[in-house]
Order: sequence, then structure tokens, then C-alpha cells
Amino acid sequence: MLRLSTGVPKLDELVAGGIPEGFLVALVGMPGTGKTVACIHFIWAGLKNGESCIYVTTEESRESIVNQARQFKMDFLSPMKEGKLIVIDALMREKEDEWSLRDVNVEEMLDKVIAAKKTLGRGCKRLVVDSMSAFWLKAPVRAREQSYTVKRVLNRWGFTIYATSQYAITTGSAFGWGVEHVADGIIHFRRTITNGVLRRYLIVEKMRQTPHDLRAWELEILDGQGLVLRKPLVRRMEDEALPPEVMERIRRLATKES
Ligand SMILES: Nc1ncnc2c1ncn2[C@@H]1O[C@H](COP(=O)(O)OP(=O)(O)OP(=O)(O)O)[C@@H](O)[C@H]1O
Ligand SMILES: [Mg+2]
Repeated sequence: MLRLSTGVPKLDELVAGGIPEGFLVALVGMPGTGKTVACIHFIWAGLKNGESCIYVTTEESRESIVNQARQFKMDFLSPMKEGKLIVIDALMREKEDEWSLRDVNVEEMLDKVIAAKKTLGRGCKRLVVDSMSAFWLKAPVRAREQSYTVKRVLNRWGFTIYATSQYAITTGSAFGWGVEHVADGIIHFRRTITNGVLRRYLIVEKMRQTPHDLRAWELEILDGQGLVLRKPLVRRMEDEALPPEVMERIRRLATKES
């Protein structure tokens, strides 16, 4: 099976060498957890490999993505000028801009992606849609059906896809049905505050046809470098989720029993 590098060395190891070609992988999680940064790595890995790539950005401008990449020493501007990278901007909606969406809907996005693929040619394998959530702001009930459409249509064009999906800050989970059930893989980005410090980690929750790692991995986002995986979390998920007073009661009961 052909696998594509994620552009993050340790992450490749967690998924048996990379993302299987043709897969749609959902990158899910709360704001600021590293989804967009991971997308930038995925595109950079393709560009370095001589592939051409497409990046659809719905909540940040094209400029913002280019600037973010530059901070990690990844030059997106040159491949854009050389016709190796197309960033489809769904935020700014510039009328004069060929690669801008007029309206944020799935149909228009698919049309633009296919037009971009025709422009870039056969060497174009990687597509990022960051994020899918933007398409369902007005109609969350359409999320699952449209995820199928996206997968079915784009699969025919030979893409390996990263699609991000945002989780609510209130619940830490998805807004109803999303891309997760349709996706061949799910990488969940999480965050926690430990000892007063924000820590981020990721866990590969699903990767079809892959003996993948099941642990949560601490990650860091570093200036000049990007996303780096550090080590598996030693604390259990339950430790992170339960309030301290509940943990204290459990501890007291456990000491009493022993
Ligand atoms: N140059 C940098 N150096 C260090 N950390 C950075 C740098 N640039 C961005 N970050 C970190 O990355 C975070 C943004 O991560 P990212 O954009 O991937 O989040 P996200 O999961 O896509 O969030 P959202 O759902 O809001 O789009 C910033 O909040 C910051 O903590
Ligand atoms: Mg983002």
C-alpha cells in the first residue's frame, strides 16, 4: 500500500509510515490545537516530494496560511507562483481572484477544487479542506450527507485528503454529525491545562487498514519548526477529565481500602 508522509516524522511512525493514498482523514478538535499547522505540514511534505497540492482555506485568508507556513520556514509563495500550489480562499471572496469562492458552499468548493486539479495536472495528489465546519454553519443537518458527496466526488480525482472539523469549546465535541463517520482516518487534537500551562496532544482515533498507535501524544508547536510530537501521555484520559475534588475522593477511598 502506498502511504503519503504527514510531514511530521513521529506522526508518520504512529500510522505505520504515513496516510494510505486515497484516504480522507479528518483532523478534529477545539480551536488552537494544531489542526491548521498539521495541514501545512502535510502540504509541505507533498511540495518537497515534487507533488502539486491544493489547500482550501475557509476561516483564514490565503495570506494568513502563507504567513503561518513561513514562520515554520516553509515557503508557500514560490510554489504558488510556479503553479505547484493553489490556495483556494473562501474567506476573502475577492471578485477578481480566480481561486476565491464567492459563496461558502460545498458545490462551489468542489467545482473549484476540480478546476484547480485540472490546472495542476496529474502530479496533484494532496488536498486540504480547512475547515469543513464552515460549510455547515447555516445547516448543520447537511454535514453528513455532504461529507459523503465530498468523499465520493473527490475520490474519483485521486486525492488524498486532510479535512479539518472544529469541536465546540463548550463541549469539546463535534457539532452533531460531521465528516468523522465518512472519514477513513481520524486524528483528534486535544488540549489540557496542567499546572497552569496549556498542553496540546493528539491521538489517532481511527486509521483504516493501519495498525496505528493508540496512545495520546504530547505535541508542541515551535516557532521556526512547526508541529513536533514529544512523548505519549503518561496520565490517563480519566485523570484529565475528572474534576480535582472527585479525584481526591477516589484517592481517599482507595487509601482507606488498602
Ligand atoms: N510561530 C509560532 N510559534 C509558536 N507557536 C505558534 C506559532 N504559530 C502558531 N503557533 C501556535 O499554534 C496555534 C494555532 O494552531 P492552529 O492554527 O493549527 O489551530 P487550529 O487547531 O487550526 O485552530 P482553529 O480550529 O481555531 O482553526 C496558535 O494559537 C499558537 O499557539
Ligand atoms: Mg485552523
